[in-house]
Amino acid sequence: TTVYLNGEWLASEQAKVSVFDRGFLFSDGIYEVVPVYQGHPFLLELHLQRLHRSLTEIGIQTPTEDFWNNLVAELIQRNADSDCLVYIQVTMGAEAQRSHLPTGDLQPTIFACSSPLHVHWQVPQPAKVAVLDDIRWQRCDIKSISLLGNIMLKRKAAARGAIEPLLHRDGRITEGASCNYFAVHQGKLLTPPADHLILAGITRTWVLHLAQQLQIDTVEEPIYVNQLHHFDELFLTSSSREVQPVGQIDDIIVGNGQCGEVTARLAEAFHASKR
Ligand code: PDD
Repeated sequence: TTVYLNGEWLASEQAKVSVFDRGFLFSDGIYEVVPVYQGHPFLLELHLQRLHRSLTEIGIQTPTEDFWNNLVAELIQRNADSDCLVYIQVTMGAEAQRSHLPTGDLQPTIFACSSPLHVHWQVPQPAKVAVLDDIRWQRCDIKSISLLGNIMLKRKAAARGAIEPLLHRDGRITEGASCNYFAVHQGKLLTPPADHLILAGITRTWVLHLAQQLQIDTVEEPIYVNQLHHFDELFLTSSSREVQPVGQIDDIIVGNGQCGEVTARLAEAFHASKR
């Protein structure tokens, strides 16, 4: 596949980054993942806004929106991609030597590639998740490439036969290792507020918009582990998983273990909006 690196289009084996890149040494960088359906990037503007925000938060000068729009379009075209995930990564850049404090005039390292995406045109089968303590840092609103906490939690969840952890801090649910959560209780849609403890998922934003269109009552408020028994439905969202029903939380069966009615309505509205 063809990838983009610092102004060049290269075969992936040809693309090389300095060992003194701050992304490699310190995880000093930001990323973004954009789904592409039938050659069209989905909700690209929202992804670019989030990218801009994350870059600004860590002090990287950001390229223009035009730059990103052209980059994404050319990446899709060069790889003749129909359905894929576009991955964008920007790091603080490479230095002459390792130093915690960024020094001198750094040129950000900009990298982009695409990877295959399995598009769900039907609601997927309910999956299992595992409740785990959210051990990550306090700025999960920044889409940092530093994902060690997320990876450790993902592996723990996988060891329990779950596709994702369901993370909490002192009993208060945050998100997954790479997704957001929604619960349904007595017909009402509940999801944790987009504060500094979660990533404001673009799929999350879109599902909230669809819920409003479908006139589903929605509350963005903290939800707690001790409420899990009472939820009628639970689902997770992300750019790669779209709307994924959850049928089991550790040993707890959610509802009757099948995809719930509200989840199905939202998943179908989501699929329809991709066309
Ligand atoms: N992950 N929360 C976290 C911690 C995430 O890493 C992601 C996305 C989400 C969902 O965001 P969105 O709906 O914008 O994809 C929530 C991406 C897909 C990844 O790391 O590959």
